[in-house]
Amino acid sequence: MATVAFLGLGVMGYPMAAHLKNKGGHDVTVYNRTAARAEKWVAEHGGRSAPTPADAADGKDFVFACVGNDDDLREVAIGPSSGAFSAMKKGAIFIDNTTASAEVARELAEKADARGFGFLDAPVSGGQAGAENGVLTVMVGGAQEHFDRAKPVIEAYARMVGLMGPAGAGQLTKMINQICIAGLVQGLAEGIHFGKRAGLDIEKVIEVISKGAAGSWQMENRHKTMNAGKYDFGFAVDWMRKDLGICLAEADRNGAKLPVTALIDQFYKDVQAMGGRRWDTSSLLARLEK
Ligand SMILES: NC(=O)c1ccc[n+]([C@@H]2O[C@H](COP(=O)([O-])OP(=O)(O)OC[C@H]3O[C@@H](n4cnc5c(N)ncnc54)[C@H](OP(=O)(O)O)[C@@H]3O)[C@@H](O)[C@H]2O)c1
Repeated sequence: MATVAFLGLGVMGYPMAAHLKNKGGHDVTVYNRTAARAEKWVAEHGGRSAPTPADAADGKDFVFACVGNDDDLREVAIGPSSGAFSAMKKGAIFIDNTTASAEVARELAEKADARGFGFLDAPVSGGQAGAENGVLTVMVGGAQEHFDRAKPVIEAYARMVGLMGPAGAGQLTKMINQICIAGLVQGLAEGIHFGKRAGLDIEKVIEVISKGAAGSWQMENRHKTMNAGKYDFGFAVDWMRKDLGICLAEADRNGAKLPVTALIDQFYKDVQAMGGRRWDTSSLLARLEK
């Protein structure tokens, strides 16, 4: 059993922290900016809540974070008044599950190293259902010795945990994940859109083609709701645009060409303008049907 802090009890963090306590058996202290959510978590799962990231992180073996973007991460980690880094003990490890840039991961890893503790960038894939069921995929960047110590703890909420390379490599791997998904979802949206125009039974089409070379997680898990025009759930378009922005900025730096990713990013901008900021990413179909 380890002492653990978890910062950020959103859609993902709330169930991840619960797995650390209930499945991992760890002693968990939670922090959430909106304190009512931390109180709800403690009422449901036990453990303790703390009023600031620093109070939560004070003396803990592992400090997890799952917040929104680079700036949010900087605020909970190195915020001037109450960032977690100011209270972390030597030898501890900060594990960041936020989807953020590789740059911020390298910056925080350097600061952590200077203070005598570890930092792992550890973004996740698998969505809300993956977090609730404790079966996330975790892509980690950082030092081997920190990874070896943190892996058994991370496994409380994960099915697959891989060390991808030094600081930032976890975030770079997550970028590849999002690049692969973006074009694929547009292809699925166009297929369903075309099938409807052609007067075919979409359920029947998917039942058959999902068993062939066109099959995908998105096809299996999203075709029904897409066909029904339901998007009020899932991975929000706002988050996807944040992620694609990170991918495109990194591509500017490393010289990679991402023409389709750049185009899909603009399609999601259209979805935002349609009122779909919190819609699931499969809402690319709504844009074609508008
Ligand atoms: N949702 C998914 O399916 C999914 C899948 C994979 C990866 N992710 C990534 O995981 C991260 C979290 O996603 P989520 O869906 O859990 O988001 P969310 O439900 O919006 O939760 C965000 C959490 O971060 C906290 N937060 C945000 N800014 C903060 C700040 N400046 N200071 C302190 N706390 C702050 C929020 O606190 P409040 O409660 O006070 O707002 C909340 O607890 C994002 O980077 C996202 O891209 C999400």
